[in-house]
Formats: sequence, structure tokens, C-alpha cells
Amino acid sequence: MKDAAPQKIYLSDYTPFGYRVEEVHLTFRLAPEATRVLSRIRFAPNPEATDRRFFLHGEQLKLLSARIDGAPITPRFVDGGLEADVPDGPFLWEAEVEIAPAKNTALEGLYMSGGMYCTQCEAEGFRKITYYPDRPDVMATFTVRIESDMPVLLSNGNPLGKGAGWAEWHDPWPKPSYLFALVAGDLVNHADRFTTMEGRDVELNIWVRPGDEGKCAFGMDALKRSMKWDEEVYGRAYDLDIFNIVAVDDFNMGAMENKGLNIFNSSCVLASPETSTDANFERIEAIIAHEYFHNWTGNRITCRDWFQLCLKEGLTVFRDQQFTGDQRSHAVKRIDDVLTLRGRQFREDNGPLAHPVRPESFVEINNFYTATVYEKGAELIGMLKTLVGDAAYKEALDLYFRRHDGQAATIEDWLKVFEDVTGRDLSQFKLWYSQAGTPRLKVEEAFENGTYTLTFTQSTPPTPGQPVKDPKVIPILVGLLDDTGAEIQPTTLLEMTQERQSFCFEGLSARPIPSILRNFSAPVILQRESSNAERAFLLAHDTDPFNKWEAGRALAKDVLTRMICDGAPADPAYLDALQRVARDDSLDPAFRALALRQPSEEDIAQTLFDAGRTPDPARIHDAAETLAQARAEALQDLLPRLYAEMHVPGPYSPDAKAAGKRALQNTVLGLLSRLDSGEAARRQYAAADNMTMQLGALASLLTIERGRAETAAFYDQWKADRLVMDKWFGLQVACAAPEAAAETARALTEHADFDWKNPNRFRAVFGSLATNPAGFHHESGAGYALLADWLIRLDPVNPQTTARMCSAFETWRRYDADRQGLIRAQLERILNQPGLSRDTTEMITRILE
Ligand code: ARG
Ligand code: ZN
Repeated sequence: MKDAAPQKIYLSDYTPFGYRVEEVHLTFRLAPEATRVLSRIRFAPNPEATDRRFFLHGEQLKLLSARIDGAPITPRFVDGGLEADVPDGPFLWEAEVEIAPAKNTALEGLYMSGGMYCTQCEAEGFRKITYYPDRPDVMATFTVRIESDMPVLLSNGNPLGKGAGWAEWHDPWPKPSYLFALVAGDLVNHADRFTTMEGRDVELNIWVRPGDEGKCAFGMDALKRSMKWDEEVYGRAYDLDIFNIVAVDDFNMGAMENKGLNIFNSSCVLASPETSTDANFERIEAIIAHEYFHNWTGNRITCRDWFQLCLKEGLTVFRDQQFTGDQRSHAVKRIDDVLTLRGRQFREDNGPLAHPVRPESFVEINNFYTATVYEKGAELIGMLKTLVGDAAYKEALDLYFRRHDGQAATIEDWLKVFEDVTGRDLSQFKLWYSQAGTPRLKVEEAFENGTYTLTFTQSTPPTPGQPVKDPKVIPILVGLLDDTGAEIQPTTLLEMTQERQSFCFEGLSARPIPSILRNFSAPVILQRESSNAERAFLLAHDTDPFNKWEAGRALAKDVLTRMICDGAPADPAYLDALQRVARDDSLDPAFRALALRQPSEEDIAQTLFDAGRTPDPARIHDAAETLAQARAEALQDLLPRLYAEMHVPGPYSPDAKAAGKRALQNTVLGLLSRLDSGEAARRQYAAADNMTMQLGALASLLTIERGRAETAAFYDQWKADRLVMDKWFGLQVACAAPEAAAETARALTEHADFDWKNPNRFRAVFGSLATNPAGFHHESGAGYALLADWLIRLDPVNPQTTARMCSAFETWRRYDADRQGLIRAQLERILNQPGLSRDTTEMITRILE
């Protein structure tokens, strides 16, 4: 029998906690099976609250003793924590609890990974460490004493002292409990220093397991560049004497911004040319920046409650995107970000898991660390900046930091600083935070007497709980070209506020060619009738790099759609346009690599579904393969030369320029392999001296169903490196043919190195299965059944990672009745598991609704 429906929490129910925490003292006596945590916490009544119920969160804790002002008490245990009768004025709470980090496989709270102790407290993990008001609006200074034989003992803030078997730390900045962290292990550090613009000399460390010290230099360099960038661009300096980063192998997410002690999934910090791809280097740089930037947007100013998660995440993602653009290429970064947004967020927004950027209710907050909160959240910041302009954005941010430093803030606070700086009313803009779904923006055009009129109509489809939507403010950047490709109207901002609205451009001598939604100025789906000739024209001439790429993309999608729906052959006009891009040496190689990439099968499925059709993953795959072959043949004469030209001589460097060349080279290799049965790929594999080239070659071979020998050799070479082995597991599933994908994944689960309790390894296999659409959605249903089997197995061990992986099923209503039936059966099988976690129950229930 199922337990009662899990309890929902509502934004509208927010009330402040009845007490303030003045200071927290914690002592940890570490032991794998029985760690003792002693807490001494000073509480005082909160004058801003009326409810004086003294409730402390606590889960999976063994309470050994509790005292108030020194006198032992017997608290009342209630759901999720305890209650006690407390004095009217300030008082001291003391408790001792026992926990078992070695048994903590959920990787939330205090747990062990590869023999070291570490913590993950966001969002609600601190309550698994001790009894506490575990909510972000309760901020306090922490002093921590760690007692353990482990050689390295770390916590937040600055070191107070250490001796044999102990260390003490003090964090002077008041913080919520989700930013608490502790690490104890046999670690080595890569050390450096940074002097802030305020003259503070900061010790920097990246702590890793012995053997990994050679993989820290790039992360350290990225950290120093991030610190500098935040000073120069946002005027924000670091505020402690030490900044520590620790790499942990078992981690549910990417990384965590704990004050002064960031903890990273080792995959998001360890880098070396031999073991990491260019994409890994870029991601590591971005995540180091992201977590560092949280020090101001997240830590100094935190969230009042978890409904405000996008306050810190959307803003911090936006900041890390700006950083990457500044460090590398704004055009390429924007295209990459839009690909991610469409692939993950649009997908989410158009299915049963759609939710507003600021949700209004949740069962398990861990289920809301989503593409919508993060990536759409970042888009909202970008739109605000476009609407108010760069100067006002800067002023607003300065005011935000001045006004809210040290506070737990809300989206209302955030928008108010923009209103105060600009005098604008942002109430309509706020709809972006409360209404889910991706707006559709229809475009009509007219040209008469020298006046060109663009008429836009916006509509947002219903999403769960939100049948009707109001019109939003949509910043639409537009430019106009003449038929020679000259720009007759440079990029201009059209501010749409109504459901249907026209904008005129006067005094034109001929009908212009419009470039609409430049730089993807709003997260919407543009619906515009256009010819492939016009798309090819924009691909050749648009001065906006995003729209230039987008035109090629639209062209490719149109060609693929016709191939799938009408059995049309690959359009020669498209292949022509592609040739011109490939040959255009004035274009950045990274841009050319993106332009030569075919739209993903997921992208095509979304597009078809949006157009009212039922996508057939098998047909999409076949058409994609046919088009890839046609592209290879059309570019045949060009490929060997381009491949040779992109060769980067000398020792590997992860910089954007070299990475762009390698990206183009690997893209070319993928096409070449379809012509030469993998000859060039085999040569590249054998000669590769870095992971980008080695993995690129292996991917090309696996895609054409070759590369057995290389796959075996890769294993022998890298079996001792966990992060490289994740690639080995993942790539085989990602590249598997539709009928082989589920079996490939299943066979890999029997491999001796399939350590399924490690989230990276689990995701390598099943994340790759879920993102191989033709394989996952194979009509046999084998992919669905296999994933369900493993979600059922993982749920009792690690609910968070299980629940995240459930989103593989979120697109199920797109597909035909047979596939829907197969998926429904698996979802119901999961839901009927006795004792299913709250996390997974919420996800499956929402997907099924
Ligand atoms: N705040 C972290 C980041 O954005 C993510 C932590 C998510 N943790 C979780 N349990 N959901 O960098
Ligand atoms: Zn974050």
C-alpha cells in the first residue's frame, strides 16, 4: 500500500521563524558509523515574528541529550524534527546527536566518499547533521571544531587553530545552514594566492586525493580569473582570508558554494589534457566561476525561502555565462546556451514537469533544481538587462548589493531595485517568474509605401495548474538587411507588452529582410513563415552571429522535417549553404563547428510535436542518418583539406581558439568517417595526445558502428581513472544504434567497473541512454524497462539522483499510443514500489498527471 500523499509546501504560507540564531558552535567527533555532533546555539526571540513555536528540523538523528540554559530537557519529537518549551527571552540550546556518515548513501548531510568525510547541505541536508532551524532565512555565525585523525580538517570561514587530531574554524559572515560544510580526509592541496582589489591576501587551495594533484592547475587558474572578473565587472571582492575547493568523487550535483569551502563533484574541477576534453575544460571553468560568484549572489545575499531559488541561481548562471563569454566568445557561448536552453528547459516547459521560474509549491525542493529555475532564470536576468540597458543594469546591481547585503531576499526585493533605479513598473515583467510555459511568438509582415510593419502575436500554452496565461513583456531585438546583405536597420529593441502588437520601420526603398530575435533576446519559440532561400541568405549575411547560426539551424530543421514527413531528399540548397559556411575562413572555427552540426533528434522531436505531429524516434533517426550521409558527400572535396587546416600543432592548450579548431576538426572527422569507413578516425585515435582528439575519434568510430579495438584499448589505458571511465561507459551508450542501445547499457551494468552507487557512473550509463532518443524510445520498450529497473534499485539508496533521472520520461505524451502505454506501465511500476522516496514519488506523480 502507498503511504499518504506527501505534504506540499506553499510559497503563500511563508512566515518568519520565531527565533533568531545569534551564534552556532559545533563540535564534530568523526567516526564512520557513529559521529557525535555537539551543538551550542544561542537563540533569541525574533521581534519580526509572531509565532513562538520552537521547532527544530532534524532527520535520521539519534538524540543523545538536549539542554536549555544548562538544564536537561525532553523534547517532543514531531514529524521532521522536534519541539520544546523555551524561555521567553534569549537562551542557549545544547544538544548531542549521533549520525552514521558511512551509511549515508543518499549523499546529503554528512557522508563518506572514497574514505573522506564531506557534506552537502543544500537544500535541506543540514537537518541530517543536527537539530536546527534548517531554513535559509535563519542566518548565523558558525564556529566549528573537528576532532578526527584525518590529516586535513576543513570547514567554513577562517582557520582558528589546529593540533594533533583537531582543527577549529570560524566563519564571521552570518550564513544559513545550507552553506555549512565540513571536510576531513587524507588530501593534498594545490595552493596559490590572490590579492583582492581591497588588498586582502587570500590563500587559495584545491584539495584532492593523492594522485590527482596534477589535475588542479587549470581549476586554480579559472578561480583566479573568476575572482578578478567579479571585481572588474561587478565590483565584488572576496571576503575571507582563505578559499578552499575540495574534489569529491561521489556527489549528486555539479558543485556547491559553501562559504569559503566549495565542494565539487570531481568531474567539475579535475582537469588535464590527457583526461579531459575541451568541453570539460570549459565546463570546469564555468562551474568554478559559478560557485565563486555565489559568494555574493547566494551567500552574502541569500534566499528568504526555497521558492526564491532562482534569485541566486538564475543570477549566478547569468553571471557565469557573461564570464565565459568574456573569456572566450560571446557568439559561441550564446549559441551553446540556447542549445542547452532548448534541449533541457523548453523540453521541461512543454511537458508535465513545467513549473514557473519561481514555483509556488513543492513536495521536495531537490526536485526544483531544474533547467527552468537555472537556465530560464538566467534568461530573465538577460531580458531585464536588455530592457533597462547596460548602465541601469549596473546601477541596479550596485543597489542590490548595497541594500540587501547580509539579507535573505526575495524576487520582489530583486525587482524593486530595478524599479527604483529606472522608475519602471515591472509588474508585468514579473509574470515571467510566475507563469510557466514557453511563449510562442508569431510574426506577420507587411510592406507598403516604404513602411515595413512587423506584427507579433504572443501566446503561451497551458501548463500544469495554469490553464490561461497573460501577455508578457518580450524584448525583441530586430535588425533589417537589404537584398545585398547590407544592414539598413542596425539592431533595435522592440518592447512588446500586448498580446498582439505592430512595429513600423519607415522610409525604406524596398522590402527589407528581417533578422528577428537577435542574440535570442527572449526565451520564446519564434513562429514565422520563411523560405529556405531567405534562411540561406541570412546564414550568409546576417551580422548578428546568433541569428546567422539560427538561420542555418532553421534551414536544417526544415530540410529534416521534410525528409521525415514527406520522404523528400536532402535539399541541395541546404547542402550548398553548408559548403559556403564550411569554406568561409573568415568565420571562427568554433562557430563553423556549431553551424555544421545537425539539429539533434530531440530537437526535431520537439519541433514536430509542436507542429501537432507525433514524432517517430525511429524515422527521425533514419532521416538524421540520411542527412548526415548527404552532408558528408556534399562536402566530400572539402573535408580532408579542412581537417588538415584545423590541425593544432604543439602541446595542448585548452584556450578557446585551439578548442574551436579541434571542435571543427572533430566535426569534420564525424563526416569523413561516413565516407572512409573510419580510416581517418582510426589514425586520429592512434595519434591522439589529448582526450578531445582521442574521444572525438572514438565517437566517430562508434557512430558508424566500428571501433571495437579502440574501445578495448581505451579501457586498458584508462581503467584506473574514474572520470575517464565515465566517458567510456557513457559514449558506448550514447553512440549505440537504436536497436542496440538498451542492450549496450544493460551489458555495461554487468561490467565489474559499473559502480552504480556512484552518481557519475550511474548517470554515465543511464543519462546517455535517456539522451539517445532512438535507442531509449525503441519500440521494444527495452530502454524504458531497463531504466525503470535501475531507478527502482537506486531509489532506496539515493533518492535525489533517482528523482532527477525520472525526467527521462517527461516527454512521454509526445509519442504514439504504444509507446505511451509502455512508458505508463513502467511509471506505474515505479510508483507502486513500497517505500518509494518522497523525491521519486513526487516526480513520477507529476509526470503521470
Ligand atoms: N547551489 C548549487 C549550485 O548551483 C547546487 C546545489 C544543489 N543541491 C541539491 N541538493 N539540489 O551550484
Ligand atoms: Zn548555483
